[in-house]
Amino acid sequence: AVLGIDSSTQATKAVLVDAESGEVLAEQRAPHPGGTEVDPRAWIDALGTACEGLLERADAVSVGGQQHGMVLLDGDGEVVRPALLWNDTRSAPQAAALIEDIGGAAATVDRIGSLPVASLTATKLRWIAENEPESLDRAERVLLPHDFVSRHLSAGGDAFFTDRGDASGTGYYSTREEGWDHELLRLATGGRDLALPELPAAPQQVMARTASGAAIAAGTGDNMAAALGLSLGPGDVSVSIGTSGVCAMVSDARPADASGTVTGFADATGRFLPMATTINAARILDFARELLQVDFAGLADLALASEPGADGVTLLPYFDGERTPNRPTARATLQGMSTATTRGDIARAAVEGLLCSLADGISALEDLLGDSLPGGRARRIVLIGGAAQNEAVRRLAPAVFGREVTIAPEGEYVALGAARQAAWALTGDDEPPAWEIAGGRTLTAEPTPQVMDAYRQLKERTSEWT
Ligand code: XUL
Repeated sequence: AVLGIDSSTQATKAVLVDAESGEVLAEQRAPHPGGTEVDPRAWIDALGTACEGLLERADAVSVGGQQHGMVLLDGDGEVVRPALLWNDTRSAPQAAALIEDIGGAAATVDRIGSLPVASLTATKLRWIAENEPESLDRAERVLLPHDFVSRHLSAGGDAFFTDRGDASGTGYYSTREEGWDHELLRLATGGRDLALPELPAAPQQVMARTASGAAIAAGTGDNMAAALGLSLGPGDVSVSIGTSGVCAMVSDARPADASGTVTGFADATGRFLPMATTINAARILDFARELLQVDFAGLADLALASEPGADGVTLLPYFDGERTPNRPTARATLQGMSTATTRGDIARAAVEGLLCSLADGISALEDLLGDSLPGGRARRIVLIGGAAQNEAVRRLAPAVFGREVTIAPEGEYVALGAARQAAWALTGDDEPPAWEIAGGRTLTAEPTPQVMDAYRQLKERTSEWT
């Protein structure tokens, strides 16, 4: 059996999986403190609880972790200060300064694949260099969250490695050169070089061993692990509806979007994982539920009782500002109501607005990478995340997207993907093991292009408001 670990922002999850069939044998989780600045040793405590009784049953183990977080260790391997996580936004000014120092947006994405925002590790290092130089002075190494967890699993507790997928979210890994870019690291730190984790020569490489001799695979970032867990292939897009909406495509072509809409990360298999992220996703449905005073199923019933286009009601769902499209100070707009408008129309407009905004994410990926896709279109759309289980979201997604949509069954895809990487390290084959995901459903519907048209018009008309 193999063990996959998801070290996320809120909790650590572990799944023990049969290495050949991919069948889940056991699943455990343990919470750890959330927030934006966290002592990484809390992840190790949660790891111990989540893995209890499972680690010793595994022949190989691998860790998927929240991307981008900055962990600093001193010369003795001790933690220098709490980790700054992907959701810590204090380094936004440092992100802008870094882009300028590299020579502008086009030069930056050509080198690292993504336009730095406050999430990226490099911007956090720069914030430390400017505001807490004493921490940087003490630091010898910089690690990503998943590297820190893998290190702890290794026999001596001192292994020091990462993978290309998670590395590509640091801002000092070059997707063009396929390696660390120490010059970019020094731009971030103000001249100081730090030791960076070893990169695998191949994605299925065994990087270290646990005390009981189990193989430790390279691990990767959570989004890359999820793509592996869903067995996505080139041209497949996963659309995840969680707190934020993440549209991620497995791509053979290297992305470089100077507008910053699509981040051009590498994946865990040797390809790329361009992503477009929306800020407003499940919270759109939460808002509608509160407003209409119904539960999740009640919201679906209301929405499905209305007509396509919600009798002329359109919701532009940028409640908390948006990044796809880039309107950081936007608010939502509900347009087209009459005295005949029903609660069902408003529920319908909420679900359609959510789906239109995700369709914008899919379009951003297709616009950037269309040349490398047959017919310029994604091969498959796979819907995941809590809200993908909502009946109205499922039924209306193929209508709004105007194409077939696969609904993935609920599952721990990050941990499952890490387990698949561990199984791959065991076989050492060219490709990861083929694991079937049971219970997925492919749905079609009569396309409703008028819904997207109304959304686009409203988006254009409101563009001056923010
Ligand atoms: C991706 C990102 C998040 C984290 C969540 O760029 O910042 O999805 O990986 O853990």
